Amino acid sequence: MEQQRKRMLSGIKPTGKLTLGNYIGAIKQFISYQDEYELLVFIADLHALTLPIDPKELRENTKNLISIYLACGLDPEKVILFKQSDVHEHAELGYVMTCNSNMGELSRMTQYKDKTAKISNKESIPTGIFIYPALMAADILLYDPDYVPVGIDQKQHVELTRDLALKFNSHYSETFKLPEPVIAKTGAKIASLSNPTKKMSKSESDKGTIYLLDDVNISRKKIMSAVTDSDSIVKYDLENKPGISNLLTIASSLSKKSIEEIENEFVGKGYGEFKKYVADIVVDELSLLQQKVKEIQESGIIDKVLAAGAEKASYLARKKLNKVYTKIGLRKR
Ligand code: AMP
Ligand code: TRP
Repeated sequence: MEQQRKRMLSGIKPTGKLTLGNYIGAIKQFISYQDEYELLVFIADLHALTLPIDPKELRENTKNLISIYLACGLDPEKVILFKQSDVHEHAELGYVMTCNSNMGELSRMTQYKDKTAKISNKESIPTGIFIYPALMAADILLYDPDYVPVGIDQKQHVELTRDLALKFNSHYSETFKLPEPVIAKTGAKIASLSNPTKKMSKSESDKGTIYLLDDVNISRKKIMSAVTDSDSIVKYDLENKPGISNLLTIASSLSKKSIEEIENEFVGKGYGEFKKYVADIVVDELSLLQQKVKEIQESGIIDKVLAAGAEKASYLARKKLNKVYTKIGLRKR
């Protein structure tokens, strides 16, 4: 007999531009889940409002994020792909979960503490960042997933989700399944090109970060001027040669060649030639990705995919919210 597949859910916040680090470290791996699990993926656009964001930028980020996921192979026939704000039950259960939480639980969230530590005037801390884990709990609990793949920084929020579910279940009777966080087997860690002991990220430095949708010529220049060491041996050695090691990791992740194979090809050759080799691989990969993104954006498929996804997600979310509203007394039995 065929076993029921486990259900998995994850959300991605449409803030900022996706980088080569996200691509190699997360997106490519994530796509592989769609064959193994019943997968729901949503664009967490309500979460993008927790800090001020320009509407134009939010629209642009959302469109690019969906396009990149589709271009990388997320298959809307297999996955329920939708936008959080299209399914109003997220905000509604979010409110219920806010009421089901207390100030202590939310104040203890590390991300909240980190993000607000820098704000000197405590009066001006946006309320959204404080209550955001309650909304995240709702995002998850609406669909009863078995697993929630997240980055390590989000693990605590999934644990809070379990606590809130448990609290609700014991107060009102069994309603929510307790989800398990899955910390993705880390894909390769990609470092900044300008500061190779730091992670490549939007916040680290623009010079050291390759953005997936930027002009590939800019990306080529960034790779050609990547910080390396002063000898000229292409060899993986994270401690003494972090820059070269990073370039080897990038080239190997994108080319299916092992690091040793690449090292062997460059015995006796200089860094200039090696950087050009890495730049060619990255530029080829990103050109292809950008071509697919363009086709997807021109095809008008995005709206259709999101409409179909919202319909499927709404069906599940509506059933769950009805149940919750009935249990807490907002609806007649
Ligand atoms: P972030 O953009 O930091 O929220 O990360 C989103 C996902 O991309 C997480 O799963 C991260 O682990 C992954 N990621 C981000 N930056 C890198 C990087 N430089 N190398 C590898 N993975 C990364
Ligand atoms: N908070 C997550 C992040 O910042 C995004 C997110 C929102 C999420 N709701 C979720 C992730 C539900 C998993 C499940 O990355």
